[in-house]
Amino acid sequence: MTNLIEIRNVTHAYRTEEGPLPVLDGLELAVPENGFCAVVGPSGCGKSTLTRLIAGLMFPDQGEVWLHGERVSSPRKTVGMAFQNPVLLEWRTIMDNITLPLEIVAPRMSRHARRERAEALLALVGLEGFGDKRPSELSGGMRQRASLCRSLVHKPEVLILDEPFGALDAFTREDLWQTMHQLRAEESFTTVLITHDLRESVYLGDQVVVLSGRPARTQYVMQIEDPVPRPIDMLYSAASVEKLATLRHQIQIAQGRAPAEEAAQ
Ligand SMILES: Nc1ncnc2c1ncn2[C@@H]1O[C@H](COP(=O)(O)OP(=O)(O)OP(=O)(O)O)[C@@H](O)[C@H]1O
Ligand SMILES: [Mg+2]
Repeated sequence: MTNLIEIRNVTHAYRTEEGPLPVLDGLELAVPENGFCAVVGPSGCGKSTLTRLIAGLMFPDQGEVWLHGERVSSPRKTVGMAFQNPVLLEWRTIMDNITLPLEIVAPRMSRHARRERAEALLALVGLEGFGDKRPSELSGGMRQRASLCRSLVHKPEVLILDEPFGALDAFTREDLWQTMHQLRAEESFTTVLITHDLRESVYLGDQVVVLSGRPARTQYVMQIEDPVPRPIDMLYSAASVEKLATLRHQIQIAQGRAPAEEAAQ
């Protein structure tokens, strides 16, 4: 299996009025095609910065970002993104919000074909019949489902999720996790998920990467071998509980609350 995403020895600093702010320090990350990489790390360590580098919205000071065998040197059409705040446009219906990326990246696609593609995704995430609604008429969980549809509508190779479930209540969040597994079963994309929720990382990820405190480097990588889609009960198995404890310990190291000598790649 080849790696669809490769981050090689990436170092980056923001230029601020107080001088350079080092954010990433020799970061390494590899995600195989159709893989799902969950990234966890202390607040402010550089996770969102990493997503911007993968999307080609920014370029690192040192090191390289590769997508599908090409070095990233411009913004990528083949990337879909979803964030904690779904940012849907209120003056458009849900349908017209979801088809928006197609209007931009596939202007020659017929309106009918665009709507068909959006309808199929709406059905997949359990929002059949909601295309005519406005964003404000949907619950937070429904808006996040619509946002996932929008990020996937143009069949991106790479899906970047920056804490998309962070603002949802625990039960809605678990429903959305299961929807993510369904989307993975039906569609083809390689995912980088930023999350603060260790259970989410273990339930969704094929690998969980723990970043160190800022400037972030890859502190720890855990493979999650359980086949997908996964039953939610998987989280209560002894093996998962042990993984969660290990990840929690790694986060404490990243936060400087536990001694670093136990950190291992
Ligand atoms: N455009 C920018 N200019 C200067 N500093 C920035 C910029 N964007 C982010 N930073 C700083 O870089 C650091 C990393 O930011 P980033 O948003 O990548 O962190 P994060 O890991 O996503 O945090 P969180 O978990 O809180 O979302 C922070 O200290 C932030 O203040
Ligand atoms: Mg962030």
